[in-house]
Amino acid sequence: MKKYPIVIALDGTSASGKSTNAKLVARALGYVYVDTGAMYRTLAWHCLLKHVDVNDEKAVAAACRKWKTKLECAEVNGLRAVRLLVDDYFPEKEIRLPETAAAVAHVAAVPKVRAWMKKTQRDCIQFGDLVMEGRDIGTNVFPETDFKFYLDASLAERSARRAADGVNENLAARDQRDSQRAVAPLMIALGAKVLNNSSMTSAETSAWLLAEIRKLMSVEK
Ligand code: DC
Repeated sequence: MKKYPIVIALDGTSASGKSTNAKLVARALGYVYVDTGAMYRTLAWHCLLKHVDVNDEKAVAAACRKWKTKLECAEVNGLRAVRLLVDDYFPEKEIRLPETAAAVAHVAAVPKVRAWMKKTQRDCIQFGDLVMEGRDIGTNVFPETDFKFYLDASLAERSARRAADGVNENLAARDQRDSQRAVAPLMIALGAKVLNNSSMTSAETSAWLLAEIRKLMSVEK
């Protein structure tokens, strides 16, 4: 029996192709795309805007408790995607700024923030079947899903991908912070299908994902 709604959990290291492939898979299946990293980035941006010290766990937790947010599902170029609005504003450009990127891992390590994010991310199910990308979707946010994937690529390849996007980032340091935090660290979920796509294009990666998803769906029927 098929269970509804379906959540496809796509976790992995930074620059392993999660966003590109999650969008390709969501489009192909007509599912709603959810970028959970964008939600953590939004809180990091909000803290910077409100002059909250991102190294002060209590202050970050308080900011997260108090901020006024709303989830919406917007359609952009034929892709339906969930957005987290703060005070009715979606800081699309601001969350990609280097200062936000530098602050986000601190915010993401705060246990109360992770609890808030888990609840909010689970609430996205109101919009239908989901392709949700992040670091802890298969391990923590939707551990009950049968559709768990983990993408990775070599550090050299991932750094080259970021550089091609014009972003110069210390991925090794970010991976280390994401993997070593106490709460919901980046790790491979039990039962997840793992793909190292160092020498694959995104067309090949998304084709592999779709083939695996269809196999799992035929087993579920
Ligand atoms: O995927 P991204 O680069 O936009 O993620 C931003 C940060 O948020 C990154 O440091 C990892 C963290 N993150 C997380 O801890 N859990 C998630 N589900 C998604 C992102």
